[in-house]
Amino acid sequence: MPRSNLYVFDAYGTLFDVHAAASAHQREIGAGFETLSQTWRTKHLEYTWVHTMTGRPATFWSLAERSLDFAAAGIGGISDDVRSKLLAAYRSMQAFPEVPQVLQALKAQGAKVAILSNGDPDMLADAVDAAGLKGVFDAVVSVRDAGVFKPDMAVYRLVLDRFGGGADDVSFQSSNRWDIAGAKVFGFRTVWVNRSGAADEYPDMAADKVVKNLSALVGTA
Ligand code: LAC
Repeated sequence: MPRSNLYVFDAYGTLFDVHAAASAHQREIGAGFETLSQTWRTKHLEYTWVHTMTGRPATFWSLAERSLDFAAAGIGGISDDVRSKLLAAYRSMQAFPEVPQVLQALKAQGAKVAILSNGDPDMLADAVDAAGLKGVFDAVVSVRDAGVFKPDMAVYRLVLDRFGGGADDVSFQSSNRWDIAGAKVFGFRTVWVNRSGAADEYPDMAADKVVKNLSALVGTA
């Protein structure tokens, strides 16, 4: 795959560790913390798809709250205090360890780097700040401007609206296999960040490249 000049990253799960919130509070949540975290994430995404397909706009934040409440009910409930702490942690996730270095290295190669995320603009600003990445990105693009969530094609189009050029000029990185499927259909060059060693899926919407973490992007693309 030839080197791209524009690297666009999914945010949650790709740059930021989406399960860090529950891990940080595992003692307060109790034995169900992993179940809570997985259900929270799965339901959050499901809600984005249902809202997109039914044409009912919602903020990513409101869906984070609703999906947390569903997940918490499934493990017998959490206190208001833990709920507040989990939501606060969701706004200040840590970046995966390789992220700052990889972004700097890509920029040193002359590439542009951007985020394309379901997150609301204020959530993304908080996350970028908390990860110490303020000023690093050439653009932080929220789906908010499209009024729908991924993998609606209108979302991927936001990148071309912002930067110009063609879809195949863009290297798109996501840890979400379904997001890679959408980006592939749109025409991006796709890199699936398979941190967990998950089985592949969507064979007719294959990733152009599969990596274990983002370090693989630097110097080898
Ligand atoms: C995002 C979610 C899908 O950041 O991870 O868009």
